[in-house]
Amino acid sequence: MLGNGKGGKDSKKNHRQQTNEPKRGFHLMKRIVIIFHSQTGKTARLAEALAEGAQSIEGVQVRIKRAQEATAEDLLWADGIALATPENFGYMSGMLKDFFDRTFYAVGESLGRKPYVLVISAGNDGTGAQKAVERILLGWRLRPVADVVISRGEPTEESLATCFEVGATLAAGCALGIF
Ligand SMILES: Cc1cc2nc3c(=O)[nH]c(=O)nc-3n(C[C@H](O)[C@H](O)[C@H](O)COP(=O)(O)O)c2cc1C
Repeated sequence: MLGNGKGGKDSKKNHRQQTNEPKRGFHLMKRIVIIFHSQTGKTARLAEALAEGAQSIEGVQVRIKRAQEATAEDLLWADGIALATPENFGYMSGMLKDFFDRTFYAVGESLGRKPYVLVISAGNDGTGAQKAVERILLGWRLRPVADVVISRGEPTEESLATCFEVGATLAAGCALGIF
């Protein structure tokens, strides 16, 4: 499902391959974006579970992007935002921080009060990354709509199921107009 991050003439096709977006349409469907960073794959598995949960809801388009490939347009495009990051040195991953830094001016105040969910993958803690992301998103006035998921160590069946549920909750709330 994930792209290789390379641009070029096939990038539109690659983009569609990593989403379930239709080629055409008037975008009446609600849109969920999942933005994540992962170095050794654990956060990627959690992000995939978020995406599968969101895709389980009818009438929802889902886009999943690595933080280094994501842009402000992804945030502006989405009705609901899911973020997933490892905890690195008591903070979010540098790549997710870079994403926030790169998109800050372009996004401005245009996000309104969009709903978001957050997943952290950590060795043994995760709270430092949680606080750091929450502080930024509070500044952007985004609304958390599910408890933060902290997965410690290898993702378990339970943590993957929780991510699936959180992705489905975000998507269903957007589709039903609750959020
Ligand atoms: C440079 C680095 C710093 C880390 N710092 C922390 C930390 O502060 N707290 C923690 O609980 N785990 C820490 N970890 C462990 C990762 O958060 C954990 O292995 C995570 O599941 C990795 O996710 P990934 O497989 O998606 O890269 C660190 C790992 C690395 C590589």
